[in-house]
Amino acid sequence: MSTPSAAEVERRADRVHGSGLSARLYDPFLWWGEKSGLSKKRDRLLEAARGEVLEIGAGTGLNLAHYPPGLDRLVVSEPEQHKADLLLKRAAELDLEVEFVRASAEALPFEDNSFDTVVATLVFCTVGEPEAAIAEVKRVLRPDGAWLLIEHIRSDRPAIGRIQDSITRPWARLADGCQCNRRTIEMIEAGGFEVELTSVADKALMPPIARPIVAGVARLP
Ligand SMILES: C[S@@+](CC[C@H](N)C(=O)[O-])C[C@H]1O[C@@H](n2cnc3c(N)ncnc32)[C@H](O)[C@@H]1O
Repeated sequence: MSTPSAAEVERRADRVHGSGLSARLYDPFLWWGEKSGLSKKRDRLLEAARGEVLEIGAGTGLNLAHYPPGLDRLVVSEPEQHKADLLLKRAAELDLEVEFVRASAEALPFEDNSFDTVVATLVFCTVGEPEAAIAEVKRVLRPDGAWLLIEHIRSDRPAIGRIQDSITRPWARLADGCQCNRRTIEMIEAGGFEVELTSVADKALMPPIARPIVAGVARLP
């Protein structure tokens, strides 16, 4: 795989749709989850960010306040323009120096081995082609780099898992394409990463359909 062309980056980003309303509702929708622990999880996760950092699917920028000082570079990417507007507004309010790139995770406009850290939180439930996106993370991450992640995944509890399977479609229509039954960790491992989970939360934070929420780090062996 090689760096996608500018046209391919734009074509892939244009595939991600969203409205101004859903962008504005995103932070209020997450308000309780952030208050009841998600914000702390972001803090703990991002303590490990170092060097040149790329965040993908950065949304409205809920991670921005949690990055440690002293990074060499912070690139935030987001394909959906309404969310990107809020992301850039938040970066300005925080007086944080970021580079913004409008791109989807499936086509990242960077050379191979460009980053020490890739960050993705609550993103892989939504990406259209997760295998392609995982391959892109693998390409742009340096061999000794770390992919810091928080994701909600399909529950191991059989009854909950079955409910998630049965309501995936209507939920996706309601929640901007989010697939509540995705086995994201298995997919990341199948993409060649070793994943170490540092927390698995099956209470609060998110509605039961979007649980458990796992946090951890994926590395290349
Ligand atoms: C649930 S939000 C998470 C936002 C943010 N990362 C957070 O932790 O709050 C999912 C984000 O992924 C973005 N997204 C959707 N499809 C994507 C794709 N193919 N590549 C990258 N980001 C995508 C959405 O626009 C949205 O901002």
